[in-house]
Amino acid sequence: MSEDKKSIHGTWSSRWTFILAATGSAVGLGNIWKFPYMAGDNGGGAFVLVYLACICIIGLPIMLGEIMIGRRGRSSPANSMKSLAAEANTTSAWTLLGATGALAGLLILSFYSVAAGWAMSYIFNGFQNITAESSSASFKNLLSSPLSLIFWHSLFISLTVFIVARGILKGLEKWINTLMPMLFLIILLLCIYAMQTGAFFEGLRYLFMPDFSKINPQVMLEALGQAFFTLSLGMGAIMAYGAYMPANQNIGKTAVSVAALDTGVALLAGIAIFPIVFANGLAPSAGPGLVFETLPIAFSAMPLGILFGTLFFVLLSIAALSSSISLIEPGVAWLIESLKIKRITATILLGFTAWFIGLFSALSFNLLSEFTIFGKTFFNATDFLTNQIMLPLGGIFIAIFVGWIMKKEHVLDELGFQENFIFKAWYFSVRFVAPTLVGLVFLSLLYFFFTEEESPDNEKEEEKEIYIEEMVEELEELKGFSISFRDPKTNEIYL
Ligand code: TRP
Repeated sequence: MSEDKKSIHGTWSSRWTFILAATGSAVGLGNIWKFPYMAGDNGGGAFVLVYLACICIIGLPIMLGEIMIGRRGRSSPANSMKSLAAEANTTSAWTLLGATGALAGLLILSFYSVAAGWAMSYIFNGFQNITAESSSASFKNLLSSPLSLIFWHSLFISLTVFIVARGILKGLEKWINTLMPMLFLIILLLCIYAMQTGAFFEGLRYLFMPDFSKINPQVMLEALGQAFFTLSLGMGAIMAYGAYMPANQNIGKTAVSVAALDTGVALLAGIAIFPIVFANGLAPSAGPGLVFETLPIAFSAMPLGILFGTLFFVLLSIAALSSSISLIEPGVAWLIESLKIKRITATILLGFTAWFIGLFSALSFNLLSEFTIFGKTFFNATDFLTNQIMLPLGGIFIAIFVGWIMKKEHVLDELGFQENFIFKAWYFSVRFVAPTLVGLVFLSLLYFFFTEEESPDNEKEEEKEIYIEEMVEELEELKGFSISFRDPKTNEIYL
């Protein structure tokens, strides 16, 4: 094991800290904001089932791989890849994997920070007399204000830069210890509230009863992307943290705890949110606003809601911060090592870049809402590019590197494993299962893309059109007159 090597950026002070830091990175907006709305968009149970499968079969094995590469390389992801590639006598082109990972981190941070800004602004919500309508209206209000979005986005990135510039070890260790368990408690409290909304079982059924007809390649890709996103995998965040991990710590057990805590928080968030959705007659497919529209209703209805609501959004913002620092850390560590610049300079440079890109995400909800890339707004396009393309691709290459490029004895040595059943199962997964499954999801998506199979959105639109046509026909028959439509812009008659 790499007893003698230490990262120049420091080492966590105890075993517990790595688990806390990695959990801090994993648990964030992905669990509480993204998971519920993605489940809601993709039909609930079907999505959740694929998501859980992706976590166990693909995510967990890759997480082990990332931690191992980091700890053996003892430097930034890019340089760890470089030195391990040299150790395995292969091309240094593997450095690129670390470099694209650092880029993916910046892109994710750019839109993550906008959503984290929403969470911060909700700290001052007040949580009084909120109805389903007023809650939706105030979220829409927030989105339509470029200035507030940019203000909160800027504030969030500044806080991230501040913590990372001081050094992750000093900046982080103290906080996470107490704050993460508190967040967990408030989510439990919300679950208890959800139990007495009257729609608790409806919510549970929605989340856990899979409707297999809803599983299609697109749902699979979204679930896969979300599994990578929520575990912070595929871009080197966990690798960077692995570099600061003490040599005598068991990587396997650690990875299992982190994945279990992360999945637990996401599921509890879903269990709290969907009953509130159904009890208030809201749509589960409300999209990114889901959490922001539902939870305030709950807080406004419960005793001491102002206190709990405020505290919840404070903790959510901190959970987002402990995630965002891991998005920028791989790039920062790399810049420090390769350009020999100061940590503060490197952090400000990258923070500014992410902030600038993020401006477009913030404005894509208002001034730039018409500007789309492949039919997606800038916010959705960066989200799609990173989660559904860059992270899974990064994951494939990490698995291939661990399974096929590194020497088996080095892998065994670093993991501190015997060649027992668990090792064999894991090794089989990183060599065959993970790359094949991720590859298959990509291929099926390409197939659907080129055969122009309908996306669910198009299907919905078409259903609507057919419905309208049928209504018109019926009306015509019933009343004995004919109906035609005029395009308001061109004045042309088209039906
Ligand atoms: N996992 C975090 C969340 O769920 C987000 C995050 C932090 C992340 N670091 C990452 C996602 C690295 C992908 C890669 O909110």
